[in-house]
Parts: sequence; structure tokens; C-alpha cells
Amino acid sequence: MKVNGKFYRSIWLNDDHWSVDIIDQTYLPHELRIRSLKCVDDAAEAIRVMRVRGAPLIGATAAYGMALAMREQAEDSSLQDALETLLATRPTAVNLRWALTRMEAELRPLPPSGRADAAYRLAHRICEEDVDINHRIGEHGLALIRDLLASRKKGSEVFHILTHCNAGWLATVDWGTALAPIYRAHDAGIPIHVWVDETRPRNQGAALTAWELAAHGIPHDVIVDNAGGHLMQHGLVDLCITGTDRTARNGDVCNKIGTYLKALAAVDNQVPFHVALPGPTIDWEMVDGVAGIPIEERDASEVTEVEGRLSSGGIGTVRITPDGVSARNYAFDVTPARLVSGLITERGRCPASEKGLLSLYPERGGETND
Ligand code: MRU
Repeated sequence: MKVNGKFYRSIWLNDDHWSVDIIDQTYLPHELRIRSLKCVDDAAEAIRVMRVRGAPLIGATAAYGMALAMREQAEDSSLQDALETLLATRPTAVNLRWALTRMEAELRPLPPSGRADAAYRLAHRICEEDVDINHRIGEHGLALIRDLLASRKKGSEVFHILTHCNAGWLATVDWGTALAPIYRAHDAGIPIHVWVDETRPRNQGAALTAWELAAHGIPHDVIVDNAGGHLMQHGLVDLCITGTDRTARNGDVCNKIGTYLKALAAVDNQVPFHVALPGPTIDWEMVDGVAGIPIEERDASEVTEVEGRLSSGGIGTVRITPDGVSARNYAFDVTPARLVSGLITERGRCPASEKGLLSLYPERGGETND
């Protein structure tokens, strides 16, 4: 996507053809800073401290992390170390495991001398596939928006979409998942307005989604996380779309903490609640998302402190709780399939259920666990 007229992706190979550049998202929205990753530990650190984040981008960064590792040392022991280092960075987004499994399957059978080139090639392919997948999600999501517009009584008024966290191009390699349909609808001339949940504690909505939407010229308002129910109750939301970090085989969707409460409010107010996801975000081995998906718990300081631009102009952190307070920081929750109106994938739309998912991914039918 473009920022100030210049085309960017969230991750790319540097002109030196070996180091890997990322947009360092910890500086957004205040500064657009590029950071070069030069070894596997750089890649692992970038994922762990959320310089990159969002399920598909975490997978893409891990793939390039393997390439950086193989460039330095490609023996079996280094391959194993790199896989373990990267896998330990964040537990919830299944794209991390998916990308690493794919890299391992490609690299392990090769002699060490062939591993670095093969790793770079596959990391590049994973990124290109992600862009294509998200473009398709945008098409299918646009069709959903057109269907909802056609069935509503309000005529040609603005179509209001509520989203949670950041599931835009910064969370993927390009386009985004939940935001891809929004970009496509806006570009098609549909008058869209987005309600952007701030998404405490890391504020991915306030910082990243708002920044992306502004760069694309899409009207939006940032709202506090608890405002969604009120807006839905008063007919001010036509559609909720979120992304997901892991979708279970039964259609349960795990996403940023607070997504579940939005889905409950949506169901109570008959607002369609859709989840956009690329195929690699489906965990086919996970039969029950609520029971089984591991929920990352992050440092309590993300709850007790808030980071932002200070009046002096610098970026700083302020404490908002009493000193010594105890806090817990669950980063994700799981929305049960029964609350989800539908899934939007690169292969089309389907109900949030095993049957629905298998209708789009029939090749997974043989893997049923029940
Ligand atoms: O903790 P984050 O910022 O990595 O969480 C990101 C999200 O929850 C996104 O909504 C999710 O990855 C789906 S988006 C492509």
C-alpha cells in the first residue's frame, strides 16, 4: 500500500539481497522507521517485542528469519536452533508454526550448502502468496459488503464498519485481512466509514489501523474499546469485520483480546459479525478453539503503562495505575463459532463451522479428528 505516494510492504528483502527490512511498528504512528534484520535473533526479537506483529506478518518474518539463520550456518544443529528460537517468540498466531513447518520441510532434506538459497526463495514465495491471498480476501469481502448494501433499507447512506485491533496491511505483507475488503470497497466508490477500536493495551487500532486508514484516505473514528456495544445498539454499525490469529477446525476464531465482547454485542443487536482469514491461519488440528488455543499472556507493564507522544515531541511512557498494582495481560480471546456470522477466506465465504471450512478446503477432509 502507499504512504505519502510511496509504495510499501511491511517486509521486504534489502537491496543488498540478504538482509531483511521491516517497518518498525513500535514507532508508528509517530514515525515511519525502517529497520534491517541481519540475523535470526534480530528476526526473533522483532516478533517478540512486536516490531512486526499480526499473524501473517509473524509467519513471513519467521520464514525470513530462517533464511538469515541458514546464511550464517546451515548445519542440522543450526536449523534446529533457528526453528526453536523462532517458534518460541509468540504462542497464539498459528501462522508462525505454519511458516516454520513449511521451511523445515523444504530445508531439512537439502545438503547444508543448498539451504540458504532455498530458504530465501521460499520466504519470498510465502510473502508473495500472502499478498495474493489477501487480495482475494478483499474481493470476497467486497462482495459481502455489496450484498449487505443491497439488502439494507437505508439507501445510499454511508456504510459503517467496526473493526478491532489491526488487521490491515501492517499485519500482513500487504492489503491486510479484515481491512482488505474495506480498501476494496472504498476504491470501488462505496462510501465507507470505519469505527476503529483503540485496542488496549498495545493500541494497535488507535496507532496502526488509524494510521493506515488515514494514509488511504478512508473516513474513520477511533473509539474506546467499550464503545462498540453502544454504537451497535443505536444502529450505527452495519458490519463488524475482524481478523484472526488462529481459526479452529470447528470455526472458533481467536483474535485480539476484546473481539469476543464485540461479537456478543453484535449478536445481541443483529449486526453481522464476519472474520477475515487466510488459509494458513486455520489450525486443522485444533478441534475446539475455546478449549485448546493457547492464549499469550504478555508483560503486565503493557497494562499499567501507556506509551505515546509527549508534549515535548519525544515518545515516552507514562504509568496509569497505582505503583505496585497487580495486573494481568491476556493478549487474545476466542470467539465461539456460534457468534460468527461468516468467514471470509481467499477461497470465498463460508459459515464458521467445520462443514463450512471443509466446503472451501475439501483437501482437509481426510484429517478430521472426530
Ligand atoms: O498482538 P498482535 O498485534 O500480533 O495481534 C494481531 C491481531 O490480533 C490481528 O487482528 C490478527 O493477527 C489478524 S490480522 C491479519
